[in-house]
Amino acid sequence: MALLEIEDLHVSYDNPVLLGVSFEVEQGETAVLFGLNGAGKTTTVSTIAGLLKPDKGTIRFNGDNIAGRPPSRLVPRGVSLVPEGRRVFPALSVANNLRLGSWTRRTHGKENEERRNLVFEYFPRLAERMDQAAGTLSGGEQQMLSIGRALMSKPKLLLIDEASLGLSPALAKTVFQVVNRINDDGVTVIIVEQNVGVLPYADRVLIMEKGTLIFSGVGDEIQNANLRESYLGKAAE
Ligand SMILES: Nc1ncnc2c1ncn2[C@@H]1O[C@H](COP(=O)(O)OP(=O)(O)OP(=O)(O)O)[C@@H](O)[C@H]1O
Ligand SMILES: [Mg+2]
Repeated sequence: MALLEIEDLHVSYDNPVLLGVSFEVEQGETAVLFGLNGAGKTTTVSTIAGLLKPDKGTIRFNGDNIAGRPPSRLVPRGVSLVPEGRRVFPALSVANNLRLGSWTRRTHGKENEERRNLVFEYFPRLAERMDQAAGTLSGGEQQMLSIGRALMSKPKLLLIDEASLGLSPALAKTVFQVVNRINDDGVTVIIVEQNVGVLPYADRVLIMEKGTLIFSGVGDEIQNANLRESYLGKAAE
């Protein structure tokens, strides 16, 4: 059984957007979700995280159908989203932003402190800026904080929407490397990307087009040059 099994997922806003998406992600994998603007990537990860209710289809996480459950129930079970656009609380300090990431688990101070220390190990720059208002961090630091906040809830499945957007190639690489470490530490990751610089870290590649999944591949299949040219856009390196 895969950790995440999505079958025939249909989601709409005013109009249908996801038109029957199916894919699986195995425990311990890093899956990268590619696709052009408007393909439905954000809609997919937002639905997995419980922010949108599907019209139809199943989302099995650890064997249970979680489709339509709200984030307040999913975060404690280990599903955590880093949303598009690094939404930190600008007036709050780095430390308080992180604190907010752990509240849904109703954990104790000591466990939160351990989590925070782990986040600081991944992102030492955040430790140096603990008391700084999040709104005054650089774009890259805000992205680190946004990932760090999601890690505070001790996710089993971490969904990251566009981690590298607006970052320099060097900083994007740093973020990918840290995500890779987080994955090595046992967290299954789905990362939405338009930057092929993430490919070396991917165990599985998923490609969406116009609300459907047009490719799901592992290993050598990922290197298919034709797909790179057609759907992945240009490398930011
Ligand atoms: N809140 C909304 N209300 C109505 N339509 C929406 C809403 N959010 C997204 N859509 C539409 O759904 C489609 C898929 O959007 P989505 O944000 O999932 O794409 P995406 O693949 O994440 O794109 P991008 O790469 O630009 O972030 C688009 O056509 C978009 O206009
Ligand atoms: Mg998006």
